[in-house]
Amino acid sequence: MCGIVGYIGEKPAVDIVLDGLRRLEYRGYDSAGISTLSDGQLTTRRAEGKLANLEQQLKNAPLSGSLGIGHTRWATHGKPSQINAHPHRAGGFVVVHNGIIENYLQLKQGLVDAGHNFKSETDSEIIAHLIEKHFKQCDDFEQSVRLALLELRGAFAIAVICDRYPDLLIAAKAGSPLVVGQGQGEYFVASDIPAMLSHTREMIFLNDGEMVVFSRSRMNISTLEGQPVEKKSKTITWNPMMAEKGGYRHFMLKEIYEQPRAVTDTIAGRINDDKNQVLLNDLNLSDTELRTFDRLYIVACGTSWHAALVGKFLIEKFARTPVEVDIASEFRYRQPLISEKTLTLVISQSGETADTLAALREAHERGGKVISICNVVESSIARESEGVIYTHAGPEIGVASTKAFTTQLIALYLFALHLGRIKQTITAEQIQKNLLALLTLPRKLEETLELDNQIEQAARQFIHANDFLYLGRGNQYPIALEGALKLKEISYIHAEGYPAGEMKHGPIALIDENLPVVVVAPSNETYEKVISNMEEVKARGGQIIAISDCGCPDLQSAADIVFRIPAICDDLMPVLASIPLQLLSYHIAVFKGTDVDQPRNLAKSVTVE
Ligand code: AGP
Repeated sequence: MCGIVGYIGEKPAVDIVLDGLRRLEYRGYDSAGISTLSDGQLTTRRAEGKLANLEQQLKNAPLSGSLGIGHTRWATHGKPSQINAHPHRAGGFVVVHNGIIENYLQLKQGLVDAGHNFKSETDSEIIAHLIEKHFKQCDDFEQSVRLALLELRGAFAIAVICDRYPDLLIAAKAGSPLVVGQGQGEYFVASDIPAMLSHTREMIFLNDGEMVVFSRSRMNISTLEGQPVEKKSKTITWNPMMAEKGGYRHFMLKEIYEQPRAVTDTIAGRINDDKNQVLLNDLNLSDTELRTFDRLYIVACGTSWHAALVGKFLIEKFARTPVEVDIASEFRYRQPLISEKTLTLVISQSGETADTLAALREAHERGGKVISICNVVESSIARESEGVIYTHAGPEIGVASTKAFTTQLIALYLFALHLGRIKQTITAEQIQKNLLALLTLPRKLEETLELDNQIEQAARQFIHANDFLYLGRGNQYPIALEGALKLKEISYIHAEGYPAGEMKHGPIALIDENLPVVVVAPSNETYEKVISNMEEVKARGGQIIAISDCGCPDLQSAADIVFRIPAICDDLMPVLASIPLQLLSYHIAVFKGTDVDQPRNLAKSVTVE
C-alpha cells in the first residue's frame, strides 16, 4: 500500500511527481504530499483525502524545483490526516515511505530520549529522524541513510532528499516494491511502472536490500551495506495509453471492456502451429521436473484466490494431480507439507502482495519449487519464483480486479493443459479440442459484453438492497465468490458467495423478497440441480438473477432476470460467466454513486501483512 515517486532532472519536479502519484493512487488514497528542493529550500505540501486536494493546494501555492519526492497514502499507523501525510521531515531531510517499520516504537523512544521532536503518529517519520541523527555524527548524506536503514526492521521502500544536497536523490527498498526509471539526464523512482511510463520505458528493478544514489548525470546502486551492485535496465513493452481511461468513465469499465484483448494477448504465442501443445517459455521447469511433482498447492489472496479455486478444477481434470488451494495469509502459519515433489503455484496480479510473497518464501524455505502467475512484469513474486506465466492483461488500475482475474483463468487453463500433456493424462486430440475452444473465447467475450445495456437497466432496481447471495456449483462456485467480492468492494452492499447445493444447510434462512440471489447456471451436468436450487429460492420469495448460456423455459420461469451468455465448453465457462457479474457490480456501484475505481478503505496492492 502507499505509492512513492521521486524525480531528479532538469524539468519541474512537481508536474512529474504529481503525474506519477495520479497513476499510483490505486495503491492508497487517503492523503498525499510532495516536497521539492529549490534554491536550497525544501518545501512541502500535504493534504488529507484524494490527490485532488493536494492538486488544489499546489494551485494555490505552487512548488518549484527539479528535484522532488511524493507519496500517496493508505494509512497503517496513524489516521488519515494532513499531519500523518508524507513526506515527513526532520532537520534538512524529507522522506517518503511505503511499508511498515516493525520496531518503530522502540526506535522512536530512543530518538525522543535524544531530544527528537515528532509531529506525526506514523512509523515512517522515524526514518527522517534516524537519518538526521546519523548525519549529525558523520556529516555524510549517503552514509546517514545507509546507517538509518540498517536500524529498521520490517518493510520499506523509501525516497529521501536533503536541503544541503541539491543534486542528490536517494532511494532504497527492503520488502516493498521500488522501480527505477532511466531517462536522458534524469531519473525517476516509483513504487510501480505506470508512474513513470509517460517519461521512459527503460526500467531497473531493485532487489530487497538495495539502495540507489542518483545525481542528474549518474546513478550508483549498492547494497545497504555498501557493496556495489551492477544492474541492466529492461525495456518495458506497456505503453502509456494503457494506463489512461481512454474515454471510459472509470478504469474498471475500461478494464472490463479490455478483456477480449487481454485474453487474446495472454494466449498469444503460447499455442503451437498444430494447436495441440501449449508453449510456456518462462516456466523454467523441464518436462522431467514437472513430471516429478505429485501434488500442487495454489496460493493467493482475494480475487487471485478465486482464480486459484478454478485452477484446482482445471489441473485435477487435465493433469490428474491433486491440488490444494490456500489463502496466502493462512498458508505460512499452518505448516504446509512440502517436499521436493510438491509444486507451489502462487497467483498475484501485482506480484507484490505481502501475504502471497511470504507464502512463496515459506514454500522455498520448506524446500519446494515455486512458479507464479503474475501480471506485473519483474514484480517481486515473479522474480522470486523459479518460473512465471505472465498474464498480459496490461496495467490494471481499478482497485476491483477484472481483466487480471479472467487472464489468470486463461493462464491456469494453459498450465493445466501443459501439465496434462507432460503427465500424459490428456491426449493430443483432447488438448487440440480445448485449445480450439480457447481460441473462440475472445469473440465470445465480445458477445457477452453486449449484455452491458441490459445489465445496466436491471442494476437500478438493486441499489437499495442490503444483502446479496451468489450461488454456483463446481467451477462456478468460485465465480459466485468473485461476483460477491466485486459487489462488496465497490458498492458496499453485503454479499455472500455459496455453493448452490449448500444453500439449504443454512443460508436459505436468509431468503425473503428483499434478498436478490444471483445464480450462475450454465448448461452442464449440474444444471438441473441448480434449477432446483433456484426453485427453492423462488418458493421463499427471493428475487433471482440467473447467468446462463441456456435458453430453456425452466430457467426462464425460475428466474426473474436472465443474462444469457454464449455457450462454450464447461472449463472456459467461468471466464464468460464472470463478465455479467463484473458489469452488475459496476452498474450498481455507479447508481449508488460510490467511488468505483478507488473504493473506501481499499488499496490495489496490499503490501502489508
Ligand atoms: C480484487 O478485486 C481485490 N482488489 C483483491 O482481492 C486482490 O485480488 C487481492 O488483494 C490480491 O491481489 P494480487 O492479485 O495483486 O496479489
